Amino acid sequence: MSATLALTTEGPAETRRLAARLAEHLHPGDVIALSGELGAGKTCFVQGAARGLGVTARVTSPSFLLRRDYDGRVPVLHLDVYRLDDLGEVLDLGFEQATDGQRVTFIEWGDAMRPLLPADHLDVELTSRDEVDAARRIVLRARGEGWRARLEAVAAALAPWRADAADAADAAGGRAATTRTASGGTTDETRER
Ligand SMILES: Nc1ncnc2c1ncn2[C@@H]1O[C@H](COP(=O)(O)OP(=O)(O)O)[C@@H](O)[C@H]1O
Ligand SMILES: [Mg+2]
Repeated sequence: MSATLALTTEGPAETRRLAARLAEHLHPGDVIALSGELGAGKTCFVQGAARGLGVTARVTSPSFLLRRDYDGRVPVLHLDVYRLDDLGEVLDLGFEQATDGQRVTFIEWGDAMRPLLPADHLDVELTSRDEVDAARRIVLRARGEGWRARLEAVAAALAPWRADAADAADAAGGRAATTRTASGGTTDETRER
């Protein structure tokens, strides 16, 4: 079972703001795996989250370097595993540091290295309707007990971007925001994992 939270943004600045708000709920040891096509907004999301974590340096795509480290309120590790051929190469990037509890780690194309991800992590999937459209659907999936327990608070913080109008109205009305689970969600969600 995985708890999911569906969000939408209308442009890159909004995606950064959303991610910065999520960052208020992140702490050392957290692993965020980002998936989505090239140009979907994975790096944009990490830029916003890093800003929310107090990183003042400019966050750029680690596509060629594959790994970047930033100093913030907590250390931030940003990996892009798109070009890696096997999981051994991911380990060569110093992946064990992702789970040393000292930093918040963002992994672009993290779904490609699922076997290495800690049981407890947050999946972020970004999709765009087409190349010219600035709208993005951003689905957060809590993996593991720890993240499932945290998703409700995250859902409340991200209420302005909730894709589900009824959920957003609930949050606006002051009632406790609820998160949907895969078992009660759409068939796509249920089929996942
Ligand atoms: N709602 C949105 N969220 C994020 N990026 C967006 C959005 N709308 C348009 N964009 C554009 O899409 C591109 C996303 O690029 P990037 O974050 O590097 O993607 P990725 O890392 O997934 O390849 C940027 O040029 C950004 O300006
Ligand atoms: Mg990128």
